[in-house]
Amino acid sequence: THSGTIFESIGGFDSIDRLVTAFYKRVGQHPKLIPIFPEDLTETARKQRLFLTQFFGGPKLYQEDRGHPMMRRRHLPFPITPQRRDAWLECMGEALIEAEIEEPYRTAIFERLTMTANHMMNTPE
Ligand code: HEM
Repeated sequence: THSGTIFESIGGFDSIDRLVTAFYKRVGQHPKLIPIFPEDLTETARKQRLFLTQFFGGPKLYQEDRGHPMMRRRHLPFPITPQRRDAWLECMGEALIEAEIEEPYRTAIFERLTMTANHMMNTPE
């Protein structure tokens, strides 16, 4: 149907969970990202699961747990350069494949996250 959300279409919580796991596995090994992320990514991944669930049309779990998303503001403590944006998106692109998120959702998700990632940049190279 055309009325479903991306969240439902990709298979709900299980798929978000696979995506987030595959994503932070890469973030934790990426030389450009390691310096700004905590060593233990458990809590970061938990928050991202809540956020992406909500962002792609599932239950508003992030808002319940953390309040208003205000993502750009929450990222201001971390210097996010164009190279770090590219690194983040590279990890996400690979994670979408590993998590077997199928087209057309893979591209739709990546495009939406690319726009958000651009908005998160706050530091020149
Ligand atoms: C938190 C980096 C883009 C969603 C964080 C944190 C860092 C970070 C360092 C803090 C981790 C922690 O303390 O646990 C980046 C970089 C990005 C980027 C380098 C590159 C553009 C994005 C995008 C999204 C996003 C595009 C969403 C689509 C989140 C969420 C949190 C977070 C939900 C947790 C916020 C909270 O504390 O509740 N990010 N981020 N980030 N990021 Fe990003």
